[in-house]
Amino acid sequence: MHRSIYIETYGCQMNFADTEIVNGILREQGYELSDDLDTADAIFMNTCAIRDNAEQRIYGRLSNFEHLKKSNPHLVIGILGCMAERLRTDLLEKNASVDIVCGPDEYRKLPALIDAAFEGEKGIRTQLSRVETYDDIVPLRTEGISAWVAVMRGCDKFCTFCVVPFTRGRERSRSLDGVVGEVRDLVARGFREVTLLGQNVNSYLDEGRDFADLLVAVAAIDPALRVRFTTSHPQDMSDRLIAAIAQHENICNYIHLPFQSGSDPVLEAMNRTYTREHYLSLVRKIRASIPHIALSTDIIAGFPGETEEDHQLTLSLLEEVRFDGAYMFKYSPREKTRAWKMGDTVPDDVKGRRLEEIIDLQRRISYDINREQVGRVETILLEGPSKRSDQEWMGRTGTNKTVIVPRSDYQAGDTVQVRITSATSATLFATPVETAQVEAA
Ligand code: 5AD
Ligand code: SF4
Repeated sequence: MHRSIYIETYGCQMNFADTEIVNGILREQGYELSDDLDTADAIFMNTCAIRDNAEQRIYGRLSNFEHLKKSNPHLVIGILGCMAERLRTDLLEKNASVDIVCGPDEYRKLPALIDAAFEGEKGIRTQLSRVETYDDIVPLRTEGISAWVAVMRGCDKFCTFCVVPFTRGRERSRSLDGVVGEVRDLVARGFREVTLLGQNVNSYLDEGRDFADLLVAVAAIDPALRVRFTTSHPQDMSDRLIAAIAQHENICNYIHLPFQSGSDPVLEAMNRTYTREHYLSLVRKIRASIPHIALSTDIIAGFPGETEEDHQLTLSLLEEVRFDGAYMFKYSPREKTRAWKMGDTVPDDVKGRRLEEIIDLQRRISYDINREQVGRVETILLEGPSKRSDQEWMGRTGTNKTVIVPRSDYQAGDTVQVRITSATSATLFATPVETAQVEAA
């Protein structure tokens, strides 16, 4: 009898890529993968531990699964990913319904853990590895337009707020040939876009070949393939990498470059290894080499010791750079990190107010930038009908902006030239243009 497995994924793109690896491993072993929660023999959650609210959401969901288990006592429940790694035996001891706990470097052990769980035996595997990259595992992906390809795992930067080095372990890279082979297969299957993925993607290294080499090798596979990457650390944003983006038409003009705080004392306490001025000069260099580059960033409000003056410096950095978009968070203390010992000194209402100010300012800047796009002609890659209306299609520019166009005789994966007609802070609206019109424009 084939046992059926249902997996829910939370958190970052790395977790979604990991779920595809887990699915690849399970399918290989003959398990059936199910998207029906109510009939599955085993339920897994691939979890996130980056902030406390991510964990609370998962506990809430776990209590739903506990109810299912009451009516079906044979149901197996498993926790994968960063919470599994962070909490380990605690998860088993404090949550009677949980049968399996398996961390990000132990997914090859899942079939054995699942078999034992069906025999009534609980199991835990949370060893971190210095070498595991799942380079030989073929991730199981549904057909589509855009694929995420993990090229490195882990992080060695040890930013003082971040739990990732503890939940995902040391940095290690896949082989360049392995990545290129996987992307070739994706192109042959009809994928039109890949995003190379890593916690710190630009510190990729395989036998002397760095991330610029990898990016160029992937871009050379097919000039019609769009190539993206995330997340970059300012420290590893090399001149060669900037040149690679500038020189290759199909490497998208979009960089996600977290700055976290605009104030030097805070950056120092965060162990970010750069100053405000370093960051700003890096942005100037990028813009000088790649004129139409879009930039996005991550920001933390209310890091321990952050003063009102520090916060104002974060706002002024936002004004100075004018990011196209940002992911903005309230600081959340994580056990084991160095910042944990600094206490959580900024009161929650102050954190909340600072975060609001950051969000409001960024929304205004995104809106201004998007409004400046009106009238421009862009090439968009269509992903499918828009979520809001079946009378519209949704696509993306190379600069990663969402564009809505009126419905027409399109197929997902088409590239279409459009003229931007209006904008909000999050979305552009456009109409298709004839090639002749573009040439005249
Ligand atoms: N609290 C708040 N935000 C955090 N991030 C990482 N750790 C924390 C934390 N403890 C944010 C950072 C990082 C993004 C992925 O999550 O901005 O870039
Ligand atoms: Fe966390 Fe810093 Fe590594 Fe990013 S670079 S994963 S924020 S430790």
